[in-house]
Amino acid sequence: MSSGSGIGIHDLSLATTEFVLPHAALAAYNGTELGKYHVGIGQESMSVPAADEDIVTLGAAAAAPIVERHGSDRIRTVVFATESSIDQAKSAGVYVHSLLGLPSAARVVELKQACYGATAGLQFALGLVARDPSQQVLVIASDVSKYELDSPGEATQGAAAVAMLVSADPALVRIDGPSGLFTADVMDFWRPNYRDAALVDGQESISAYLQAVEGCWKDYSGQGGRGLEEFAAFCYHQPFTKMAFKAHRHLLNYGGLDTDQDVIAAAIGQSTAYNRVIGNSYTASVYLGLAALLDQAQDLSGQAIGFLSYGSGSVAEFFAGEVVPGYKERLRTAENLAAIERRTELDYAGYRQLHERSFPTDGGDYPTPVQNGGQFRFAGLRGHKRIYERR
Ligand code: HMG
Repeated sequence: MSSGSGIGIHDLSLATTEFVLPHAALAAYNGTELGKYHVGIGQESMSVPAADEDIVTLGAAAAAPIVERHGSDRIRTVVFATESSIDQAKSAGVYVHSLLGLPSAARVVELKQACYGATAGLQFALGLVARDPSQQVLVIASDVSKYELDSPGEATQGAAAVAMLVSADPALVRIDGPSGLFTADVMDFWRPNYRDAALVDGQESISAYLQAVEGCWKDYSGQGGRGLEEFAAFCYHQPFTKMAFKAHRHLLNYGGLDTDQDVIAAAIGQSTAYNRVIGNSYTASVYLGLAALLDQAQDLSGQAIGFLSYGSGSVAEFFAGEVVPGYKERLRTAENLAAIERRTELDYAGYRQLHERSFPTDGGDYPTPVQNGGQFRFAGLRGHKRIYERR
């Protein structure tokens, strides 16, 4: 079933923020029973960006180790997927291109369709590499998920970036040919240009997601995809980890298969480990799931993984990949865990202060405080321009 072209994910690296807010602190502040967060939505903590972090610094931090390992000579395309864009015209990827010193002979573009954008980027990358297998495409998914304070969505925030190098003869996951697609015009979650925080109809968004799972699975089967029993594991978009469990149960039900809790946990449990402590990272979420799965599973060599990418609004895609033997030597497990564990815990007041920060829009000089200890900083606004630094 794997595509004859043998193209896929050659390397995968993640980054998350300087700070983290445990759900225990949120629950203590708003009087919610902690069980609702830990069990009901399946979240323990959420990444919170420092004042000098944004989608560019996170994206650069995720991509830097990939460029370090493979060089940049073969990277002719950079696709930056995000729904927390910082400019209506210029691609955030151009800042990353500059911070990483990538070759000028490259095309760089930003893609948007809510959380689905990175999967579009991955699929476009597969097409570009099929056209010229000597080229590689750097796909970056980077987002800051922000809802209103004191809203139901607040507990499902988070922030992270994933960078993937897409190439021929990949070291990690070969992507299959068939894809199941689904688009429906729904208002489940959106963010008008004048708003910083997303608007959401929570229950509508859950049913829209489940409807999309069914829709793209139907199309995937029609495209000659694998049978449900052929998959060793699944990676779902995880706005909160319980959603992956709901989605997988829905898919198994639809396929007439056993929906026993243990069966579901065996198929998706390992893919939820990073999302459970990072929170929603929008475009990066499915691929954080992949990183967690590959980092923790015993040995998936030669086995099939199913991917379900959902972006509100809505567009969804189900596709499959086969894990490449020898992949374990190319993983970044220690670095991934370090990125998660290095975060400094905020108290509720510290989180609220960061959440409420915003910049004046008068074009003045507004430096940011030095808070993040990483390689890349968003140093502030000057004359309406964003200033970035590499240490
Ligand atoms: P809510 O109203 O705060 O919570 O909204 P709830 O009352 O629905 O409870 C949540 C769960 O906790 C329920 O379980 C309760 O029973 C359980 P369920 O019935 O769902 O299985 N619960 C408890 N469990 C154990 N102990 C307790 C307890 N109390 C209650 N003591 C909601 C929750 C997720 C809707 C809200 O946080 C929200 O609006 N989040 C944002 C929207 C979202 O994430 N939607 C997901 C699908 S859309 C999507 O994935 C796309 C997205 O990523 C955006 C994009 O594409 O760009 C969001």
